[in-house]
Amino acid sequence: MIKKYRFGNPIPTDSVVIDIAPETAPITIFEADETAKRLRYNLDKKDVVYGLGETIRGINKRGWIYDSWNSDDPNHSEDKHSLYASQNFLIIASCNEGATNKKPIGIYVDDPGRVTFDIGYTDIDVFDIIFEDFDADVYVIEGESVLDIVKQFRHIIGKSYIPPKWAFGFGQCRWSYMTADEIREVVREYKKAGIPLDSVYLDIDYMYRYKDFTIDEAAFPDFENFVKEMKDEGIHLVPIIDAGVKVEDGYDIYEEGMEKDYFCKKENGEVLTAAVWPGRSHFPDFLNDDARKWFGDKYKILLDMGIEGFWNDMNEPAIFYTTDHLAEVFDKIDSYKGKNLDIQSFFEFKGTVASIDNNIEDYKRFYHDYKGQKIRHDKVHNIFGYNMTRAAGEAFERICPDKRILMFSRSSYIGAHRYGGVWCGDNLSWWSHILLNLQQMPGLNMSGFVFSGADVGGFGADATEDLVMRWTQLAIFLPLFRNHSAMGTRRQEYYRFKDIQGFKNLVDLRYALIPYIYDTFMNAVENDAMYAMPLSFIYENDERAWNVYDQLFIGDSIMIAPVYTQNAEGRYVYLPEDMKMIRFRSTEDYDEEVLEKGDHYIQTGLNEVAIFIRKGHKLPLAQPAMRIADIDEKTIKEISYLA
Ligand code: GLC
Repeated sequence: MIKKYRFGNPIPTDSVVIDIAPETAPITIFEADETAKRLRYNLDKKDVVYGLGETIRGINKRGWIYDSWNSDDPNHSEDKHSLYASQNFLIIASCNEGATNKKPIGIYVDDPGRVTFDIGYTDIDVFDIIFEDFDADVYVIEGESVLDIVKQFRHIIGKSYIPPKWAFGFGQCRWSYMTADEIREVVREYKKAGIPLDSVYLDIDYMYRYKDFTIDEAAFPDFENFVKEMKDEGIHLVPIIDAGVKVEDGYDIYEEGMEKDYFCKKENGEVLTAAVWPGRSHFPDFLNDDARKWFGDKYKILLDMGIEGFWNDMNEPAIFYTTDHLAEVFDKIDSYKGKNLDIQSFFEFKGTVASIDNNIEDYKRFYHDYKGQKIRHDKVHNIFGYNMTRAAGEAFERICPDKRILMFSRSSYIGAHRYGGVWCGDNLSWWSHILLNLQQMPGLNMSGFVFSGADVGGFGADATEDLVMRWTQLAIFLPLFRNHSAMGTRRQEYYRFKDIQGFKNLVDLRYALIPYIYDTFMNAVENDAMYAMPLSFIYENDERAWNVYDQLFIGDSIMIAPVYTQNAEGRYVYLPEDMKMIRFRSTEDYDEEVLEKGDHYIQTGLNEVAIFIRKGHKLPLAQPAMRIADIDEKTIKEISYLA
């Protein structure tokens, strides 16, 4: 049962697609305090809070304070409050074992501005939702189980996005492959290593001077033919599209945007100038229907060249600086000249310079023309990236309605899940980020983002072979499987490491698992179900299962428990029932063992990956192929654990 409560004058977000009339009676279950702009829920000792999308700090969100404020922050450390997305859906639940049969409660806070979720941070037993403006639609969902609430919620937000099948193959990315020849080399090396590959990503350097929808002709001559050459090899090239449009005379997109008045403007009517990769740029007003359509139609430039997938980036939007704020900073710096920088003025000075990017005041400098109203950006900040993804998704429906186009984005809000998937942004080559990747998946799936994953091997910092191997042992099970790393970091394409065969075995296993992965994905989309979930979602009465935060069920049949500790040769795994463990060294070489419900130490060397099959379930395995399109369903054999 879903009840909608309206507070103030909410700004519509189009995240919910089913019309629900607001309740006339005041909210129950949560206690509303209009003066404090707050909703409060008193947590029981054993309550667990699931959700909030891709945020940091584990599957159970209790014990921290989160800010829904889409941020370009590449340091995903434990002290952070925001990442790139705002997915304001949560479920409060507790294990029923021996308890009072307390039912779970879901809550969706539909507010595109800043919202703070204090989940037992200030007081371990209190869950507060604090609004900057108390203008929001709040949906309270009662249900029989956590899965039931997820299903009800996903029903009202509409079906999740489905990518083309090749997008479930392995993708290699790097910021950046600078030339077509460099990409040819990547493809050649993967082929030589016998490692399956379906896509290579183009980061910002494929563009001419970082201008959206342009090609650097010197580095990528005859691009259209290059796309075809790669496609003939079975490789899809996936270019990045950034939110900022370079300010440059003669650049058609800039000129058109100016002429049609499609860029975000300041209070005084001047177009906002903010710097991103191309230097001074303007932001298309994705919230405006006409501007959104205009920008969306530009994807056709690349679609016409044979491109079949894109990733949208920098769409929080990231701001390196605005020209206005930069001028203020320079003035301020001048005022320090010749001064003795003492303890206070030194830190002030440092703060002034450090504050130039993603500055909160800059998000108050510009406006949107949204549904007939002029709205200051910070009030709708969290739906900017969503509407960029929507621009693309709506355009694909117009341009090629019968074809699936790959689309995933960095920034998002619920609603964007209908137009694309997400990746979790600029993580680091840290062991803890393998676990973070695992823990981000359930929250994303709950809020509709089923096609999701993180940069395998870590984006920032230098990766090591064992870390990339262990990370891959998780990522082969996730829908979006892409190895990506930042400029200046150690190269981490699989063929660069010593144990190439070990990496091949893992990617082969991914391709063998495709029938299971694809079916599980399609089931999650079509039936509003979970793709990756914690044990507690299935074993509702097993208190031990409720305490497991580093294992996942992938669909109903299999459980994974990846190793995420450096130098570990195995780990403890909790089996919520008797299960059959398959320990793979390769798709041909594995051992099977039935293990009893309970805790087990599972030995898994660096070249081994364990899958646990539930009783009465089976795992189909196809003969691996070098490309998704070449997987032959007739080769499927099944490993089953008969009841
Ligand atoms: C951002 C993206 C990253 C990309 C880089 C350069 O940091 O998150 O994936 O490689 O920009 O485009």
